[in-house]
Amino acid sequence: MPKKTKKEMVRTPKGMHDVLHGDLRYVEKIMEKAQSIAEFYGFLPIQTPHLEFADLFLRPLGETSEVVEKQMYTFRTKGGDLFALRPEGTAPIMRAYQENGMSSWPHPVKLYYGGSFFRHENPQKGRYREFRQFGLEALGDSDAIIDAIVIKVLYLTLKEIGFENAIIHINSLGDKECRPAYKKELAGYYKKKFNYLCKDCKRRLKENPLRLLDCKEEGCAELRPQAPKMIDHLCEQCKNHFKSVLEFLDEGQIPYFLNHYLARGFEYYGRTVFEIFLETNDNEKIVDKKKSGEDASANNAVEKPSTAIALGGGGRYDELMAILGGKGLPAVGGALGLERVVNEMKRLNLPPQKTIQPKVFLIQIGPAAKKRSFRLMEELRAAGIPVGESLTRDNLKTQLNIAAKIGAKIVLIIGQKEAMEGSFIMRNMYESTQEIVMQNKLLEKIKSELKK
Ligand code: HAM
Repeated sequence: MPKKTKKEMVRTPKGMHDVLHGDLRYVEKIMEKAQSIAEFYGFLPIQTPHLEFADLFLRPLGETSEVVEKQMYTFRTKGGDLFALRPEGTAPIMRAYQENGMSSWPHPVKLYYGGSFFRHENPQKGRYREFRQFGLEALGDSDAIIDAIVIKVLYLTLKEIGFENAIIHINSLGDKECRPAYKKELAGYYKKKFNYLCKDCKRRLKENPLRLLDCKEEGCAELRPQAPKMIDHLCEQCKNHFKSVLEFLDEGQIPYFLNHYLARGFEYYGRTVFEIFLETNDNEKIVDKKKSGEDASANNAVEKPSTAIALGGGGRYDELMAILGGKGLPAVGGALGLERVVNEMKRLNLPPQKTIQPKVFLIQIGPAAKKRSFRLMEELRAAGIPVGESLTRDNLKTQLNIAAKIGAKIVLIIGQKEAMEGSFIMRNMYESTQEIVMQNKLLEKIKSELKK
């Protein structure tokens, strides 16, 4: 912990930040869009705890995953339990499915969530230690259409916020039948290049060669384009499944890019994996729709992954329930990183949620007027009239200035005399007119004045 002088205020921990109203308006816009699209497609809301037993993440995410190796916040309780601040939301949803008897619900069980996740990353733009996600999980069905629906909800959310150029990088990792042969070939390829690998990858090669595909180290990244591709090793079922997913994406006019080296960071993924980027240049060629539908493996899309950071990602995790010790359960999901989406909205000048600027402003002068205002605010709220105020100020000019600053159309002034009489001075700021209005006519008068 950094040393503090006596007067120094405690600050937020590195990589964590307050989210102020300006940014929250962006978050609200994303969440509102995402929720309404997800609910339309039958997803139900769920919240899981921020703290879980660390075991929930260790094996499912993989001992060799970046998150488990380096980024989990864990601590031991006085009772000796090892807890983790949740680094992601998928394993907790699987736990919740089991714990809440969701196996008796109609399948697929479709759930969505939003909230904070924690990873001890090196903070930089788009990478924080506390970050927020909107996530979707569909449990209990292996039909390719559900993979496409998850992708569609995330894609449409971005599109309807105003992103015209979102693109899905997609790949299939096969299943436990066909993946081992691919991993073996991949390991063979990298073994020949062993001396060029970074320290972490030298170690990961033995444990899980798939991890090498998403290593960011320059030397390892340079070896990727010649590495064997999973698509050439998919079994018949996995190939058909992948082909179907792509056909649904074609049908939904969702642009995608076959990224043969997309592996994702977690152990639990199998079959479909995807990440969402904004297309920034013509590096990434969108797959010729007809061709991709006919034969995914014959696809000739440019194999140049984007260097930008992903706005979202996900995939199928049919083996996760078994890893957790339950009965097999096919499932698929995905999540958007809200901070990253907010950053891009700002960069592209996409509007946040509108803040309601009240068109009515209440001014009071003197103690009796202040008391009356206290009651009046509530009457206006009940009548559905947004009203601005500065009840702690007493000076007329100051209050008028504030009213002008927020662009109020109508100003209601209560002085000592009006407080006694039960009247108001109503000033139309746009027309510079003014009249006396009695309490019993006030709401009606405000409404007609606002309509003008
Ligand atoms: P993930 O790719 O680790 O997947 O995270 C999803 C998104 O969260 C990323 O694409 C990114 O936008 C955002 N994100 C991740 N880490 C950070 C960070 N340190 N700072 C800011 N944003 C970040 C998952 O978490 C899976 N649970 C998604 C999923 C759901 N797969 C299946 N279902």
